[in-house]
Amino acid sequence: MTTPRKIIIDTDPGQDDAVAILLALASPEDIEVIGITAVAGNVPLPLTQKNARIICELAGETDTPVYAGCDRPLAHTLVTAEHVHGKTGLDGPNLPDPTMQLTDGHAVDFIIDTLRNEPAGTVTLCPIGPLTNIATAFQKAPDIIEKVQEIILMGGAYFEVGNVTPAAEFNIYVDPEAADIVFKSGAPIVVMPLDVTHKALVTQQRNDAFRDIGTPVGIAVAQMTEFFERFDKEKYGSEGAPLHDPCVTAYLIKPDLFKGRHVNVEIETVSDLTRGMTVADWWDVTDRPANALFIGDVDADGFFALLTERIARL
Ligand code: BDR
Ligand code: CA
Repeated sequence: MTTPRKIIIDTDPGQDDAVAILLALASPEDIEVIGITAVAGNVPLPLTQKNARIICELAGETDTPVYAGCDRPLAHTLVTAEHVHGKTGLDGPNLPDPTMQLTDGHAVDFIIDTLRNEPAGTVTLCPIGPLTNIATAFQKAPDIIEKVQEIILMGGAYFEVGNVTPAAEFNIYVDPEAADIVFKSGAPIVVMPLDVTHKALVTQQRNDAFRDIGTPVGIAVAQMTEFFERFDKEKYGSEGAPLHDPCVTAYLIKPDLFKGRHVNVEIETVSDLTRGMTVADWWDVTDRPANALFIGDVDADGFFALLTERIARL
């Protein structure tokens, strides 16, 4: 038996963040969630940190520490996405306010202390929101970078281009300076861009499968995905909305579901037109060294089968 991977989930819940967290919490044989760090993104920080606690309580995992982190990007004003996720960030199900408390201390210090205290190469960072907390930790304590086992993040796009501007994906667009720091850090990075998440579509049948689990968690997942589907189906004209963030936690459990390439990825921070673009050298046309495994494909049926099976455990 392999030992579960220790991870920190850095997140801005967000319904798809919620599903990513639930998948991790439902999979203790594969994943040990040592902490959840909230960041401003889909909605402001007071809501993302609250939503992270709501999700832990929904999963019955109230011992998982939740920390509040950065409330704004490094250099720009915060851009949020209530038009996708609703006013609370978790619109859809009617979930109770959390009774579990935030853990004392700043998310950035938790990330730094954890990486310093754990043996090198044993902690994986899973950012599924803007990269502000991670970049701030790297800036404040560069010694931790070489201790990171892997960064598996949702963000960016290349062939699918942008979802928030014509060139940029939301998580990278919100804090391109932070993304630039992370992609230049030298830590091993796996990227789940829109190129792959747009293949993980919640069709009616897949949503029904969540609801048919019949548990409070299964029903909440169906209601959450249904909520943001309204917006995404209309936007993309597709048969279902992409379930972005759970690609990160599914990759930890079944990496064989995904395919990608090691390429160089640079972040555009200067141009007004393309700020936040992840410039991926997919065809190897530069001599810039590869710094990321850029995922482009997923076995969507396998992905949803895994999700449904694990969510049913909670
Ligand atoms: C990303 O942006 C957020 O709206 C989602 O939670 C996901 O992390 C997709 O672009
Ligand atoms: Ca997110």
